[in-house]
Amino acid sequence: MKNVVLCVTGGVAAYKALELVSRLKKHNINVDVAMTKSAQEFVTPLSFQSLSQNPVITDMFDEPKAYEIAHISLAKKADVFAVVPATANIIGKMAHGISDDFISTSIMATKAEVLIAPAMNTQMYASPMVQENIAKLKSIGYTFVSPGAGRLACGDVGEGKLAVVDDIFDEIMKLLYPKKDFAGRKVIVTAGGTEAPVDPVRVLTNRSSGKMGIALAKALKDRGADVTLIHGHLTASVPDGIKTVSALTNEQMDHEILKCYDDTDMVIMAAAVSDFKVREISKHKIKKSEDSFTLELVKDKDILKGLGEKKKNQILIGFAAESQDLEAHAREKLERKNLDFIAANDISEGMVFGKEKNSIILYAKDGKMTAFGELSKEESAHRLLDEIMKEVTRRDQTTGL
Ligand SMILES: Cc1cc2nc3c(=O)[nH]c(=O)nc-3n(C[C@H](O)[C@H](O)[C@H](O)COP(=O)(O)O)c2cc1C
Repeated sequence: MKNVVLCVTGGVAAYKALELVSRLKKHNINVDVAMTKSAQEFVTPLSFQSLSQNPVITDMFDEPKAYEIAHISLAKKADVFAVVPATANIIGKMAHGISDDFISTSIMATKAEVLIAPAMNTQMYASPMVQENIAKLKSIGYTFVSPGAGRLACGDVGEGKLAVVDDIFDEIMKLLYPKKDFAGRKVIVTAGGTEAPVDPVRVLTNRSSGKMGIALAKALKDRGADVTLIHGHLTASVPDGIKTVSALTNEQMDHEILKCYDDTDMVIMAAAVSDFKVREISKHKIKKSEDSFTLELVKDKDILKGLGEKKKNQILIGFAAESQDLEAHAREKLERKNLDFIAANDISEGMVFGKEKNSIILYAKDGKMTAFGELSKEESAHRLLDEIMKEVTRRDQTTGL
């Protein structure tokens, strides 16, 4: 049986967590409820106890006898910790490593997935403190079910209303039963910026952080793929458990991809590969004796185009950062490089490099266009995989697999 620890904190929406308990119980999921002191001002523990059919934890130092040390035993037993509703206070405590009550302590002690559904006044939600704390927790890997907009209990109208229980329930189910739709598929993802050497100590490179490629590799791994991340220079860190191969130059990256290309089901080129290289790399460090000198650059290999030419059954996905005529350029690249999809980013409003969010428009070989809207790179990665999976399913059906 799956175990959810439902952490209820002190907001008006606390009563909605009752419905969540009953939804989970109907799906034969064990629910242990913990409530902060403030939460008990809004709903009684007895209501949660009746619905969950378990004792409710209301104080770290007043633990039911049935548990050894409740915050440790529940932290170990849980498959998912769900904080519903999550106050600005608990979000702040979690983001700063404060553990002064049962909920903040147990979450710190758990290896389980953590889901947070914030609910609060619109101004509180929009405040830089809350937004920074949410960004930090997202970067740790916690799942957020964002609040909706509407009329709040305080009379304000805007964002901050607890997400609908159906959506929170769906997200918990996804964490409890993750989809493994990419199981058995071999995928290469490239990430980061490549370097073009100038002399033994200097390189020409770009500002790619590698975040999008890393998010894709992580999403693919979570969805069961056999994924290899071939990466250039990265400023973001790669989560544990992802196979990585370092390839700093265009040539190395091309070589590493081609080594396993024939045996690969799909390649997602999210790396920012250098278009130019230095015609003659100096053997020795260039001295600063001259006031100026000229570097001659020549076009480097177009890796993606090469892959398009060698393509058999692989699905090939490219990325395009465009500052003008996004659609025309993206479609032209899709065609010229023999790709199946191209994920285009409009960079005219500011660079996407290094940012947490992007806004992808996906163009498919069959002419279909899908705009994802502004999403975190993790969410964009899953949306992209959903679209690729539709193509995989279509091909499996045509080949009768
Ligand atoms: C009537 C009332 C409603 C409140 N609603 C919310 C809310 O929706 N979200 C929130 O973050 N804080 C809300 N608060 C403030 C929290 O209860 C307060 O910050 C408290 O310290 C939270 O404690 P906890 O995070 O330990 O539950 C509310 C307070 C009152 C008195």
